[in-house]
Amino acid sequence: MKGTANRTIGLIGAGRIGSQIARLAVANGYNVVISNSRGPETLSALVAELGPRARAATAVDAARAGDMVVVTIPLKNYRAVPVEPLAGKIVIDTNNYYPERDGHISELDNESTTTSELLQAHLPTSKVVKAFNHIYAAALTTDGQPPGTKNRRALAIAGDDLGAKAAVSRLLDQFGFDTVDAGLLKEGWRIQRDTPGYGPRRTAAELRRDLAAAKRYAEQ
Ligand SMILES: NC(=O)c1ccc[n+]([C@@H]2O[C@H](COP(=O)([O-])OP(=O)(O)OC[C@H]3O[C@@H](n4cnc5c(N)ncnc54)[C@H](OP(=O)(O)O)[C@@H]3O)[C@@H](O)[C@H]2O)c1
Repeated sequence: MKGTANRTIGLIGAGRIGSQIARLAVANGYNVVISNSRGPETLSALVAELGPRARAATAVDAARAGDMVVVTIPLKNYRAVPVEPLAGKIVIDTNNYYPERDGHISELDNESTTTSELLQAHLPTSKVVKAFNHIYAAALTTDGQPPGTKNRRALAIAGDDLGAKAAVSRLLDQFGFDTVDAGLLKEGWRIQRDTPGYGPRRTAAELRRDLAAAKRYAEQ
């Protein structure tokens, strides 16, 4: 991997999770381009806090600028994510499905697909990796520890592209977390809301156990 100095992380969404990932990225030497739905001018306070490695842009510009791009928006808006500027790129998907917020999405209600597979279908040539979906935003900047720390917190990823998953694992390691690979995107349900691993601090061994114990909504 290139050194972080030349790398830019684009963020589509700069709310609770997006702002925290931006903080971690800047602290680890990345440039960040953040975006939201209301426009770059509404992000001036966050840009000021993040400092010279950060700028605000439109979602299209953030997608274009990012070597790696994080989509962290309410799931109901996933079709608004720009497709062409993300072609060929690694796209990290933090999104979760909450029908009370997102409205009902029948393919998710009947469990014929998963949230990250929906985003992957919307971004057919991007390499979507599910990550950061099961950690509370505040914990992103409090729970990270250096590599090799005993009982370090682990985060799950899922994805269909092995190289993209390896790159996201390296990012997680830099940010302070071990990684547990949950498998293909279609296995992402194992870490959706109401599964054992969703929310609490888990080591890698604990998270593997939780992923194996996860039950489909229909079986809960
Ligand atoms: N909060 C958590 O602890 C947590 C943990 C893990 C995963 N998640 C998941 O991660 C996602 C983001 O959660 P959050 O808590 O960070 O949400 P949030 O605080 O509500 O922030 C959402 C962000 O997305 C932006 N946005 C909405 N529609 C957009 C669009 N079409 N284009 C660009 N930006 C758009 C919003 O911009 P405006 O404000 O301008 O509308 C806002 O910056 C959700 O799917 C959530 O379920 C959340």
